[in-house]
Amino acid sequence: PLDEARAAIARHTRLVADFPSPGVQFKDLTPVFAEPAGFSSIIGALAHGCPEVDLVGGIDARGFLLGGAVARDLGVGVLAVRKQGKLPPPVRTVSYSLEYGTAALEIPADGLDLAGRRVLLVDDVLATGGTAVAAATLLREAGAHVVRVSVIMELAALGGRATIAEGIGPDIEVHA
Ligand code: PRP
Ligand code: MG
Repeated sequence: PLDEARAAIARHTRLVADFPSPGVQFKDLTPVFAEPAGFSSIIGALAHGCPEVDLVGGIDARGFLLGGAVARDLGVGVLAVRKQGKLPPPVRTVSYSLEYGTAALEIPADGLDLAGRRVLLVDDVLATGGTAVAAATLLREAGAHVVRVSVIMELAALGGRATIAEGIGPDIEVHA
C-alpha cells in the first residue's frame, strides 16, 4: 500500500501556490481522497505495520475521514479529537500553537473509558507537531497511551518528530 499511496499522491495532489501565506506551496490532497485507489491505498498505508491498538483517534478535520476508515481496517473503534467548541460539556481541553496561529483540541471528559487504551492517532499532515502533541496529551490525561501517530505527509523541516518525542516521549512511533 505504501507504493500505491505514493503513486496516487504524486498523480492527484493539487498544488496551490502562495497559500495560506506567500511563499508557501499548499498540497491539497482532496483529489487523492476522491479517487477510489487513492483513498484505499492511503488508508492501507496509514494502517501499515501498526502495532496492536484498541482505538483510533482521528484529529479534526481530515483525520476524521482517515481515522474512521483506518479504524474499520484495524477492527477497532474511533474517537473524534475535535477542535474547541464543538462538544457538549464536560470536556477535556488542551491548547497548542499551530503553524499559523493557536487553537485547542477537545475530547469528552465523561462517558468514555480511555484508561489503559492503546491509541493510534491519525491526521493528514504533520508539520510542527503541535497538533499531534496536543491530541496525545489529551489522551494521556484521560489515561490512554498513544503508541503511534500516522500521517500521510510530514513537513520534515518543521521538526514535528522531535517535538513529539519531547512532548510525549521517545517511544511513540511516527509513521508518515
Ligand atoms: C493542519 C493539518 C494538521 C496540522 C499540522 O490542520 O491538518 O492537523 O495542521 O500542523 P502542526 O503539526 O504544526 O500542528 P489545521 O489545524 O490547519 O486545520 P484543519 O485540519 O481543520 O484543516
Ligand atoms: Mg488538521
